Amino acid sequence: MTEFTPRAFRDAMGMYPTGVTVVTTLDQAGQPVGMTVNSFASLSLDPPLILWNPGRDSFSFPAFETCRHFAVHILHGGQEELSNRFALRSNIKFGDIGWRTGSLGSPLLPDYAACLECQTVESFPGGDHIILVGRVIKLDRKETAGPLLYFQGRYHRLLD
Ligand SMILES: Cc1cc2nc3c(=O)[nH]c(=O)nc-3n(C[C@H](O)[C@H](O)[C@H](O)COP(=O)(O)O)c2cc1C
Repeated sequence: MTEFTPRAFRDAMGMYPTGVTVVTTLDQAGQPVGMTVNSFASLSLDPPLILWNPGRDSFSFPAFETCRHFAVHILHGGQEELSNRFALRSNIKFGDIGWRTGSLGSPLLPDYAACLECQTVESFPGGDHIILVGRVIKLDRKETAGPLLYFQGRYHRLLD
């Protein structure tokens, strides 16, 4: 058996392939914040619920912990650079992106495979993260080639 260390746990979790999203909201000063997230999952069809897990030590955690709405952008295969930008620990990720305000107030990025505007409905403690549950109020889907995938700590694309 593999020795159970923090590194081994991360590596084992990395064996599970995921898509990549960027989740955005506004902070208490009304400034846009966002982070790259692969803990996103669909939760319920009726009502339409999704969940994701922000880490407590991330810069934008205070904003997400108290947010009443957020937007999930599911990235397409051409958005590795955007994913890297939103995985940086900073509050200056939106600079030249040309975001707009969505119907619930969350900042919406111009490019994505799908975008889900959500109302926060519940949050639960989860170790060094929390579980945020959102109700999808509005969505948009674009015709994009394929998803951006994350596996074993690296980006991948589907062969088509
Ligand atoms: C592919 C990928 C997936 C990630 N998924 C999550 C996640 O689900 N939850 C999380 O808290 N951080 C996740 N991160 C890390 C955050 O994006 C990173 O900590 C970022 O610095 C957070 O931004 P902030 O510190 O400005 O808030 C992920 C990073 C990458 C590259």
